[in-house]
Amino acid sequence: MTRMTIERICGLAPVIPVLIIDDLSTAVPLARALVAGGLRALEVTLRTPVALDAIRAIGDAVPDAVVGVGTLRSAADVDAAVAAGARFGVSPGLSAAVLDTAADAGLPMLPGVATPTEAMTAAERGLHILKFFPAEANGGVSVLKAWNSPLQDLCFCPTGGLSAGNAPDYLALPNVVCVGGSWVAPKDAVTAGDWARITELSRQAFDLSV
Ligand code: 3PG
Repeated sequence: MTRMTIERICGLAPVIPVLIIDDLSTAVPLARALVAGGLRALEVTLRTPVALDAIRAIGDAVPDAVVGVGTLRSAADVDAAVAAGARFGVSPGLSAAVLDTAADAGLPMLPGVATPTEAMTAAERGLHILKFFPAEANGGVSVLKAWNSPLQDLCFCPTGGLSAGNAPDYLALPNVVCVGGSWVAPKDAVTAGDWARITELSRQAFDLSV
């Protein structure tokens, strides 16, 4: 399988769905529904016992999806996710153990930062596309505006507290490449198997312009 850079993955669509998969049987139809609406890069968070199996199932059954892993907290998480076929990694913060292991494995990373110091530390490692997390709780759009001039070589994927309502404000910023969020896969729609609704939410998110 061709390896994609994090720049390319973040450029696939304006939104990366953040998925918490409780029931393995929903993984493939959920991924198909999101891909049908245009969102191809999918972050499956390591927050449930079936997350690794979900990554494997989506990778096997949904060739147009670019399945990644979220909530990477340790080197062991990275190793397990790579073995399951994850094609990119996301973490809530900046962990040397996670980044070193991902670099060794060739896993493109989108690490989380919440301060200029963390963003500078990531840049020193050659990482220039970063997740701003949790975006809304950390000051949101006004913080990214304030970072644009001093950190002008860095771009962000704000995640945490985003919705169809505020995503356009973030996507209008020059230092935002895409956003992450769970709103495109609401729990009630997943539980009900309402894949048409998820495809529609995905389509609306895909149509947001960067
Ligand atoms: C998370 O931590 O779950 C992600 O940042 C998604 O946040 P959201 O549910 O607010 O979109």
